Amino acid sequence: MVREWDPRTASSAEIASLLDTLNAMLAADLPQDPPWQESCLREYLAEVMPGERRISWVAQADPAADGTPGAILGHVHVLLLGNIGVLDALVHPSVRRRGIGRDLVLRAARRVYQEGFESIGVEVVGDTPALGFYESLGFRREYVETRSVLDLSSVDWTELAEMSTGVGTGYHVQFHPGGPPDELIEAYARAKAELRDVEDGELRPSSYDPQRLRDSLDCLHRRGMKPYIVLALHEQTGEVAGLTEVVVPAQHPTRADQYDTIVVQDHRGYGIDRAIKARMLLELRSAEPQLTEVQTWNAQANEAMLKVNAELGYRPDRDWCEYSVDVAELVHRLDKSR
Ligand SMILES: CC(C)(COP(=O)(O)OP(=O)(O)OC[C@H]1O[C@@H](n2cnc3c(N)ncnc32)[C@H](O)[C@@H]1OP(=O)(O)O)[C@@H](O)C(=O)NCCC(=O)NCCS
Repeated sequence: MVREWDPRTASSAEIASLLDTLNAMLAADLPQDPPWQESCLREYLAEVMPGERRISWVAQADPAADGTPGAILGHVHVLLLGNIGVLDALVHPSVRRRGIGRDLVLRAARRVYQEGFESIGVEVVGDTPALGFYESLGFRREYVETRSVLDLSSVDWTELAEMSTGVGTGYHVQFHPGGPPDELIEAYARAKAELRDVEDGELRPSSYDPQRLRDSLDCLHRRGMKPYIVLALHEQTGEVAGLTEVVVPAQHPTRADQYDTIVVQDHRGYGIDRAIKARMLLELRSAEPQLTEVQTWNAQANEAMLKVNAELGYRPDRDWCEYSVDVAELVHRLDKSR
């Protein structure tokens, strides 16, 4: 049975059951990824940025004879932002190819259509069943990134310490756990407006104005995701010349996520990218001692950043693809196939 589901009011048993399904999915599709923990999972699913909405549905097994509610076997949520709905669906490996995934996506697509949105986007991991699934539903590939993973046990910390100091004169590198300090928010947001070297894809929009940046940091904290920032300050102008952001999620605290890394155009060629990333890893080593890996996503055309990441020890892991589809077309196709 598929029904709309609100993580804010869901029972703890439902949250635990969804976690089991999520971890069964990871074991089947991404066996190298660490399993998720229950810590802040409800908040992760419930909290959104101001102006955004996330709507969720679950596929639940029938109740047992004694009335115990059935397990959560599938889940879909759609984040409504701008003119696009960003979808995320999963089905327990033991009940795949029975049409549950299609039912979940149909429910979400109908709502996105009713709400007047034009398209649906989804991130699809290379070499998993999700590729065949979304392609069978008419989704088209828009963009491919490479996910790379750094195993911290392979890092040469002495070499890294040297890299962290290899920045040209006139720059001051600073570490800020929790986010940039208030007095730097405006300069930080200006640097974020430098679009060209943003590592993230289109489905993970960056924050370009100070208020949106504050909201985004707030939202991360509420979702149990701790941001860390290293920035290079240009001493002469007080401008943020470069920045790198890593988030340590309570849900998988041994593997951190690299978010944006940006070096502002005028400040390229001074070793800032390498130095701020190296400094970040050094700081994380003491701030988050349980951390064993960091993952990052890069556009395949971004050769400069791929080169620095390779020097730091990142190894390419998987393709990470963005797919999209016209909502009306999807609803029509799914309704016809029922
Ligand atoms: C993608 C997913 C949701 C599909 O769920 P599902 O319930 O098995 O999908 P359905 O049974 O509704 O499949 C519908 C159609 O999609 C296509 N499809 C599904 N799985 C497929 C596969 N492994 N290969 C090729 N086509 C596939 C088929 O055309 C299928 O119809 P058919 O079974 O009649 O041939 C499920 O495989 C899943 O949870 N994957 C993990 C998703 C994920 O989030 N991964 C990691 C991200 S971090």
